[in-house]
Amino acid sequence: MLHDRDRIFTNLYGLHDAGLKGALKRGNWDGTKHILVMGRDWIIDEMKASGLRGRGGAGFPTGMKWSFMPKVNDGRPHYLVVNADESEPGTCKDREIMRHDPHLLIEGCLLASFAMGAHAAYIYMRGEYIAERHALQKAVDEAYAAKLVGKDNIHGYPFDIYVHHGAGAYICGEETALLESLEGKKGQPRLKPPFPANMGLYGCPTTVNNVESIAVAGTILRRGAAWFNSIGRPNNVGTKLFCVSGHVNTPCNVEEAMGLTFRELIDTHCGGIRGGWDNLKAVIPGGSSVPMVPAHEIIDAPMDFDTLRGLKSGLGTAAVIVMDKSTDLVSAIARLAHFYKHESCGQCTPCREGTGWMARVMARMAEGRAHKREIDMLLDVSTRIEGHTICALGDAAAWPIQGLIRHFRHEIEAKIDQYSANPHGEPVRVAAE
Ligand SMILES: Cc1cc2nc3c(=O)[nH]c(=O)nc-3n(C[C@H](O)[C@H](O)[C@H](O)COP(=O)(O)O)c2cc1C
Ligand code: SF4
Repeated sequence: MLHDRDRIFTNLYGLHDAGLKGALKRGNWDGTKHILVMGRDWIIDEMKASGLRGRGGAGFPTGMKWSFMPKVNDGRPHYLVVNADESEPGTCKDREIMRHDPHLLIEGCLLASFAMGAHAAYIYMRGEYIAERHALQKAVDEAYAAKLVGKDNIHGYPFDIYVHHGAGAYICGEETALLESLEGKKGQPRLKPPFPANMGLYGCPTTVNNVESIAVAGTILRRGAAWFNSIGRPNNVGTKLFCVSGHVNTPCNVEEAMGLTFRELIDTHCGGIRGGWDNLKAVIPGGSSVPMVPAHEIIDAPMDFDTLRGLKSGLGTAAVIVMDKSTDLVSAIARLAHFYKHESCGQCTPCREGTGWMARVMARMAEGRAHKREIDMLLDVSTRIEGHTICALGDAAAWPIQGLIRHFRHEIEAKIDQYSANPHGEPVRVAAE
């Protein structure tokens, strides 16, 4: 469990002043210049030693990612792009940073950009985040007015920061679709390689990081890599924002130590499972893209990247969606299948055709209007989408269905039995259109 003294986001709930005055009181912008004086290599080495893994979903080591940027400038500008698209269903952590602790993010942008030789950072925010954009822009304006950022700032490193508002498309959270959108084009993922570190925004070296990954950088560099690395479990360290929704008594966002158990997370911060622990059915532990885990497997599992991968799921964005025994899991996954079909950008055939096909089959299965042999067919089709597409949206569409079939095939079969016994009766439950 996390001690209060180890919290990075000390204004997560907006109880204090989110403005510069309040941020300074909380220690933001403290010794920033001293950190810059330590140099680019020191910052990157320190970030590597901290063990921070990207908070945008994939868990890629942040320091290593920064080290991929060219060391020598070939004349092209370098860019930092912050991914504030936050469209993964269940995920609502970055918005709390942007509206309540925005100076942590702005300071992190300066430090990360300096480490990568970038003089400009773009924060790409999801279209629906209107209030968050206003809050963040206000903080950026304050930082300019106080000369914390800008061409002639007090840190002696010319640096500009821009808040860019997207139009509201899940696919624009994928880093290369985001770059396309930022360039003013249709938000469709690019083929990789080339990777953004060589050919990113406007064809220039670019690093894309999640809001939380960047916002924790200042505190890590101030308190030291060893401090961050001492929290959590090996290879899964640091503090982490969890967004808990669904059938708990008090859903919440909370910063906790990586690797606390699911039971600790729910009992300490969410008032327990609705109806008690015996009423827990399944959990989607990392946002809608990751496969669900049945109750008995997750209750005492540490909530971290490696453990959840071992359970054939993932920590993803740490958006923990809790489902009790009242949940119609087949309908829930049918609804997610509909979401992925709707959000597919349509570039690659397996995703464009496959997400639609899976959504239609899932909608029938949610009513029981299917044959049992179709369950294996659905599983087979999902494996032909997974890993065969330009971006990971194809995987994201396949995994929730695979999780359902892996653990709750009997619920699909029960619906089919019920429907075939009484085809003209009340539909078992119709998936949302
Ligand atoms: C369909 C799709 C949507 C994504 N949405 C987001 C998002 O909203 N926010 C985010 O940070 N990463 C998102 N990602 C992951 C990004 O592509 C990228 O890996 C991430 O921004 C890297 O940041 P990190 O290294 O700090 O984790 C998405 C990926 C895919 C495939
Ligand atoms: S996987 Fe889907 S969303 Fe990603 S590029 Fe292909 S069609 Fe577009």
